[in-house]
Amino acid sequence: MSEKIKAILNHEEFIKRNELMDMYEMDREFCLHNLQHFLDTSRITYILVLEKDQYKNLFPGKDAGEVKDLVYAAGLLHDLGRVEQYTEGTDHALISSRIARDIMEDIGFALEDIKIVCQAIGEHRKYNESNSAFGRKLYEGDKLSRQCKGCKVIDECKIELEYKQGKQIY
Ligand SMILES: [Fe+2]
Ligand SMILES: [Fe+2]
Repeated sequence: MSEKIKAILNHEEFIKRNELMDMYEMDREFCLHNLQHFLDTSRITYILVLEKDQYKNLFPGKDAGEVKDLVYAAGLLHDLGRVEQYTEGTDHALISSRIARDIMEDIGFALEDIKIVCQAIGEHRKYNESNSAFGRKLYEGDKLSRQCKGCKVIDECKIELEYKQGKQIY
């Protein structure tokens, strides 16, 4: 594991927010926003950007290893603002983007990398053609991480129909 990703996992704010969300979601029937979800989103998004070497266009000048750090940073940090969504009703994507910037600055990520990751996090909630290419990949990785097949609350869930119909499977 890279030192930067290790530093995210060990960052005080990251740990605190994971604990808070575990508490807020203790009785949640729908999919959770926990470490498992953050890892799943990171791994799947990384697969998506590696497919057909797309990372070369998505992140010009970066090799697959450098891209891995950015994708995992985005995947691990993309939902931390859920805490405020639960307590104040604010949009978690925008809050997560701000929290991610603080954590990444603390750890010493390059400014241009912080910008790329935080933009994608801010965009991850909805698929939009005008979003950055990385924002669209993060959206997709986030959704693909959800296991809809066999879900007991699928009818009440707000996830898009294509995922309810099994887009995740292949
Ligand atoms: Fe989210
Ligand atoms: Fe998510």
